[in-house]
Amino acid sequence: MSGPLIVLVGPMGVGKSTVGELLAGRLGTTYRDTDADVVATAGKAIPEIFFDDGEERFRALERQAVRDAIAQHPGVLALGGGAVLDAETRALLGGLPVVYLSMDVDEAVRRVGLNTARPLLAVNPRRQWRELMDARRPLYEEVATVTVATDARTPEEVAQAIIEALEL
Ligand code: S3P
Repeated sequence: MSGPLIVLVGPMGVGKSTVGELLAGRLGTTYRDTDADVVATAGKAIPEIFFDDGEERFRALERQAVRDAIAQHPGVLALGGGAVLDAETRALLGGLPVVYLSMDVDEAVRRVGLNTARPLLAVNPRRQWRELMDARRPLYEEVATVTVATDARTPEEVAQAIIEALEL
């Protein structure tokens, strides 16, 4: 596939990687995600980066991963759930097809619950989800060219909905 990078944004657990891989397969292109790139660059797992170096450092690595992916890679790119918190990262997405994968809070708690691999959600998942989504929803909406709801849809159905929404 030639053409621009297709970017997936949305909260952790919404299925960005699963859907991204399926979508890339359907389009005959490659899949990449910023979390994996950040881990490779830092040489350690995400919770360790947060713990040792702090969230600000993580966001800087994430911003660089987005910049590199845009420069190198026509295909599908999934961003970490909090990448949109960074204004520079949001600015990098201007002009690209960006898909916001959304889910409601009940679905989020059901899918992710207590997942210690996701450090921002370690305690009181329901309340943290509400706060997280209230803060982030406007940012996802700001960068998105289309929104695709994932509730009650299989990953295959979500990939199909993206293809239709972006007229790919
Ligand atoms: C984060 C989401 C994670 C990962 C990191 C921070 C967040 O990515 O980047 O743990 O701030 O929501 P996924 O959305 O791929 O889980």
